[in-house]
Amino acid sequence: MSASRNKAIESAEGVALFRALGALEPRDAFRNPDFLARDFLGPRYRRTYHLMKLFRRFSLRRAERAMPGSYWYLFVRTRHLDEILLETVAEGIEQLVILGAGYDSRIYRFRDSLRQVACFEVDHPATQAAKRRHLRRRFPELPSNLTLVPIDFNRERLEPVLAESGYQEDKKTLFIWEGVCLYLPDSSVDAVFETVRGHAAPGSSIAFDYVTRAVVDGQDSSTLGAAETRQGTTGLGEPILFGIDPAKTEHFLAERGFELLSDLSSEALSERYLREGDGSAVGEILGFTHIAHARMLG
Ligand SMILES: C[S@@+](CC[C@H](N)C(=O)[O-])C[C@H]1O[C@@H](n2cnc3c(N)ncnc32)[C@H](O)[C@@H]1O
Repeated sequence: MSASRNKAIESAEGVALFRALGALEPRDAFRNPDFLARDFLGPRYRRTYHLMKLFRRFSLRRAERAMPGSYWYLFVRTRHLDEILLETVAEGIEQLVILGAGYDSRIYRFRDSLRQVACFEVDHPATQAAKRRHLRRRFPELPSNLTLVPIDFNRERLEPVLAESGYQEDKKTLFIWEGVCLYLPDSSVDAVFETVRGHAAPGSSIAFDYVTRAVVDGQDSSTLGAAETRQGTTGLGEPILFGIDPAKTEHFLAERGFELLSDLSSEALSERYLREGDGSAVGEILGFTHIAHARMLG
């Protein structure tokens, strides 16, 4: 397997591992809802999962030291994007496109809510092939409203690939772009916004997470997890390349033809999802992350 194929699968499995561990959380309010994440782990990550499950508290403390804020960030990210998905479905979308889907399990977890929605998972062919193998073990067949769309973003453009897959430009669509844009050069990020803007029906929207520009530029090393994330991603050969100055997010999106519906900072996400009954926080999340939801301007 080539290095880039390996890297694509590894990055998807790494976040699935954290979600799988999060799904073991005993407290209902703080359990990661992704109960399918563990089904996607390959042999190596599965072994790590079982070891970490056995020594859960100790392992989470170690992971927290190595990658401060990552475990709880993946919990709030799953929760918040799940909420955006369900709200948007309730408002009436006809298509869901998950960009860089990796081991995203929403189409399987929300199968019933998505019955009337045409769903597309867009990802690297190597990750998709691995996902297909894992899914076959868990489900007799894929949902009939799901199309897997293989693409190598480094070699192909999104719009013709989407068009060939049966995606329809005149249907109101939610795009989910989770944990991906931070690894892309500015030009690739622009190309995705351009594709959505130019090839989606009015009322369509995109939900995505991003990191602050200061972390990408190396000007912020003090926020929780900033230095470790920069070092860790560079070490894995997938450095973080793209970020937005949160004071300019609204402007950034307006320039690309989008209206900002919500943009939650790390503080806002912690406040919403990590508070215990007495007001204290159950854990800390990466301090430089945001989750935004933006609708195409009419
Ligand atoms: C960090 S994972 C995020 C996966 C998923 N969205 C999630 O949050 O669990 C990044 C995803 O980008 C995909 N990816 C990486 N390089 C790619 C490429 N050149 N073309 C298409 N997809 C790619 C990987 O296959 C992987 O699924």
